[in-house]
Amino acid sequence: MTSFTPPIRGNNRHLPFGDQQDALFYGRDIISVKQFDREKLEYIFGVAHEMYEMVARVGSFDLLKGKILANLFYEPSTRTSSSFTSAMDRLGGSVIPINNVSYSSVTKGESLPDTVRTLEAYSDVIVLRHPEVGSAALAAKYARKPIINAGDGTGEHPTQALLDLFTIKEELGCVDGLTVTMMGDLRYGRTVHSLARLLTLFDIRLNYVSPELLQMPSEILDEITASGTKQTSYNELDPVLPETDVLYVTRVQKERFDDPTQHESLKGSYVVTKETMEKAKDKMIVMHPLPRVWEIDMAVDDDPRAAYFRQMEYGLYIRMALLAMVLGKA
Ligand code: NCD
Repeated sequence: MTSFTPPIRGNNRHLPFGDQQDALFYGRDIISVKQFDREKLEYIFGVAHEMYEMVARVGSFDLLKGKILANLFYEPSTRTSSSFTSAMDRLGGSVIPINNVSYSSVTKGESLPDTVRTLEAYSDVIVLRHPEVGSAALAAKYARKPIINAGDGTGEHPTQALLDLFTIKEELGCVDGLTVTMMGDLRYGRTVHSLARLLTLFDIRLNYVSPELLQMPSEILDEITASGTKQTSYNELDPVLPETDVLYVTRVQKERFDDPTQHESLKGSYVVTKETMEKAKDKMIVMHPLPRVWEIDMAVDDDPRAAYFRQMEYGLYIRMALLAMVLGKA
């Protein structure tokens, strides 16, 4: 009987012959923004730039030909899921889409570790969105193939934070010296949790604007304080708007409320309108991870400072870069 040697588990992952074994993030998971430093960010943004140029020039190319991505989404998604699919398609790879787990064995009671172990048998990298904090780290513990966290409940959304930072850099030229104001649901919004942490790598000032009920969690405030970054909380936008370089708006995460009536009471508590933009700097940007519900008036969309649709496109290049990196091709 021929013996079968199982591939190595954990961090000593099985590295296929011919790939760049010493490349940054090759074979690694992307779980939290805490994995990044400024040098790594520069590298990722450099690769994202190359991706932008290649897409502009040729549309798609065969860098990841033969590689397969499993897109495993236990929560709704439009942008994250389709941008990872588009990124893989443009790099010549293919995608197993599990965007609705109700059609998968999850409804039969399969555990996350088993589902992940199944999908990695058929793919080279898994993008995971799941409602529980820590789910991506749990999946990574069991998987041999790289896991990319596409949102773990109210925890983190590291690839969104990377694309958010890339947007700020591309649109405003640099990050150091900026005042970033985060407004909306700072309690349950995972994008602001990741972005606030990532911004501590830069010399910036953070403002938070939210109703009492939706304030930034204390453990994140403590982390930001420990980093030495200046942060201040407000109930209204007006006092900080004139000094704001980046206004990052989020929707109320109604699916995370135990009591749905509580969410109703917060409707309209902060809305960006044309009047808001009149009081803002000439050189600033308004960002939003999207989906938008009512927190930015559609009349603002034509303002050149409204960067939220451009922000989505930057996400494609960041996700192309990340896929190429974890698969050892960048
Ligand atoms: C965000 C998310 O899923 O956390 N969306 C996204 O990925 N662009 C924001 C949200 O749902 O409000």
